[in-house]
Amino acid sequence: MKFPIDKFQKLRTPFYYYDSELLRTTLNEIKKQIQKDPFVVHYALKANSNPEILRIIREAGIGADCVSGGEVEAALEAGIPASKIVFAGVGKTNWEIEVGLDNDIFCFNVESMPELEVINQLARERNKMAHIALRINPNVSAHTHHYITTGMNENKFGISLSDLDRVLDVTARQSNLKLIGIHFHIGSQINDMTAFQGLCLRVNEVRQYLLSRRITLEHINVGGGLGIDYEHPDAFPIADFKSYFDVFRRHLPLHDGQKLHFELGRSIVAQCGSLIARTLYVKEGSSRSFVILDAGFTELIRPALYQAYHKIENLSSELPPKEYDIVGPICESSDTFAKAYALNETKRGDLIALRSAGAYGEVMASQYNLRKLPKAYMD
Ligand code: LLP
Repeated sequence: MKFPIDKFQKLRTPFYYYDSELLRTTLNEIKKQIQKDPFVVHYALKANSNPEILRIIREAGIGADCVSGGEVEAALEAGIPASKIVFAGVGKTNWEIEVGLDNDIFCFNVESMPELEVINQLARERNKMAHIALRINPNVSAHTHHYITTGMNENKFGISLSDLDRVLDVTARQSNLKLIGIHFHIGSQINDMTAFQGLCLRVNEVRQYLLSRRITLEHINVGGGLGIDYEHPDAFPIADFKSYFDVFRRHLPLHDGQKLHFELGRSIVAQCGSLIARTLYVKEGSSRSFVILDAGFTELIRPALYQAYHKIENLSSELPPKEYDIVGPICESSDTFAKAYALNETKRGDLIALRSAGAYGEVMASQYNLRKLPKAYMD
């Protein structure tokens, strides 16, 4: 990626930088891939809810996948129509459900029996029919980091297959709920397409079972999870949407009138964002050398929390690489972006880019150590 370094020199670091052109190209690729199918993509706001990003996504005509009342409000403020908003989450509060009901969102993805009853009651008070999909825990492994695996029996998400029967009975008794679909999500940063294939098999089984109970559903939502290439952001700036959608085309043939919904987050926004930091100090030791940045896990927590890899580049140096531990200023040892990392020889003041940080970067920033939240700029 070509960064506007002259512009960066004038800005206070650390900050997020987004490339709107790459975001638009990514969105166009998705639209191209799904144009011939009854596929509907919702953008998972949790990955990045920066208003500028949301505006571009809304312009592309993509819907929203929200997991809080705040996200539903942000999607609406960005102009995403309520008819394209799905709302998931294991712990929706009353006010959050009310935001959804009052705005007539497309669908609540319901994760438990007590939640069904609460949505029904709040809908009844408003004299409304809430549209719901049951989130089913498919017990399919996503072969990804255990913190971001969601579709196994031990995870807190969704309704387990063994409870489905009972939940369907209870759903049928709720006068203000309309069951319009089923929802699944197996995890995130998945590059192994066989995981999605496994999901398709399970969705087929569930759909078959529902048919045996004479339940036909118009909407199937398979969640998100498509991974990106953190190692080679320049060679692969756009996720492999073709292989991803092909899996569903091939392994999940839709019945007449059925629509397949996706909730993609990371694969839409990760590659268009970088965290830009400045080198505060280079501490050369006899056993190892540290590059100390003015950004830490307060701005990008993924390496500390998931041992995630982000490619790191020195934008100011063309000197041959040296090996450094690249760390932030926070008073914790986990505030380390990379160990023994080959970075062009670095000196105080050099600008550093942490790549592929457009997803789960800015949104996960904190003010720990009373730091300021990072600003964001877009070109
Ligand atoms: N739908 C549901 C129900 C989800 O839980 C998630 C992500 C998505 C869709 C979007 O998944 P994506 O397409 O972005 O993989 N903070 C972690 C990732 C957490 C993902 C949580 N759920 C990280 O930085 O890797």
